[in-house]
Amino acid sequence: MFEFSHRLQKLPPYLFVELDRLKAEAKARGMDVIDLGVGDPDLPTPAHIVEAGKRALEKPENHHYPSSVGMMAFREAAAEWFRRRFGVELDPATEVVTLIGSKEAIAHFPLAFVNPGDVVLVPTPAYPVYHIGTLFAGGETYYLPLTAENDFKPDLSAIPEEILSRAKILWINYPNNPTTAVVTKEWFAEVVAFARDHGLIVAHDAAYTELYFDGYVPPSILEVPEAREVAIEFHSLSKTYCMTGWRIGFAVGNPELVKGLTTVKNNVDSGCFQAVQEAGIAALTGPQDCVEEHRRIFG
Ligand SMILES: Cc1ncc(COP(=O)(O)O)c(C=O)c1O
Repeated sequence: MFEFSHRLQKLPPYLFVELDRLKAEAKARGMDVIDLGVGDPDLPTPAHIVEAGKRALEKPENHHYPSSVGMMAFREAAAEWFRRRFGVELDPATEVVTLIGSKEAIAHFPLAFVNPGDVVLVPTPAYPVYHIGTLFAGGETYYLPLTAENDFKPDLSAIPEEILSRAKILWINYPNNPTTAVVTKEWFAEVVAFARDHGLIVAHDAAYTELYFDGYVPPSILEVPEAREVAIEFHSLSKTYCMTGWRIGFAVGNPELVKGLTTVKNNVDSGCFQAVQEAGIAALTGPQDCVEEHRRIFG
């Protein structure tokens, strides 16, 4: 009786829901399934983070609406973590926004900058939300193939001029899901130079920066000084601290890009539960040996 909007009708089946269905079918047939679907660490959240969350839950001041940009204390903790990890200083007031997990922000971000008919450059294969957010914003996805021949990095020189002239956002994601490819700071510098030349926003999904092995340590795109002019980077506490269910992350970067995302969030959500943000502060500022342990187990 009720017809879904054209927007919903255009959606491909959500990959991870589809994988869950196939998994359930295989299990029902008695198969022993190794789940290579959604990246949900099968370890509990470290105890000191859970304890901080419990204490925060008891505080009446946390029972009210949070602000959609996030608690200043969480944004300061994120900025401090960023300084320690990447050596980059951020202004927590203008260059950091708290997220209800990075997925919502990846989906919402194009609403702030993409008009109908604009092109969004999306790697393939990739996390499906880059395309879905584009679709919701009325944009057109132009896919950039990631192949073994190009080291699973998009070949920016192969994008036709007609597409580039309409392109607003370039999505990248390193360490990459699903290819596991990694990049250097020099490659990020090339991407930033390309974006500045073509008036593009670089949206870097950095959900996996803390899961690294064999002596390689992933850089942030913001380690490239000029990135601050064109880039926003999406970080997640989900994988790093085994907090997928808590729904917390943060975005950092160019103040106008952060402001655009925050404006969308002001209008569609009421922020991340403060008790969760306090647990997030414990995660970012507390002992980091749990992260080392996660790397050891998952590596
Ligand atoms: C590449 C990538 N980006 C972002 C996310 C979203 O993570 P979250 O919303 O939990 O921060 C995921 C989750 O699987 C992912 O694989």
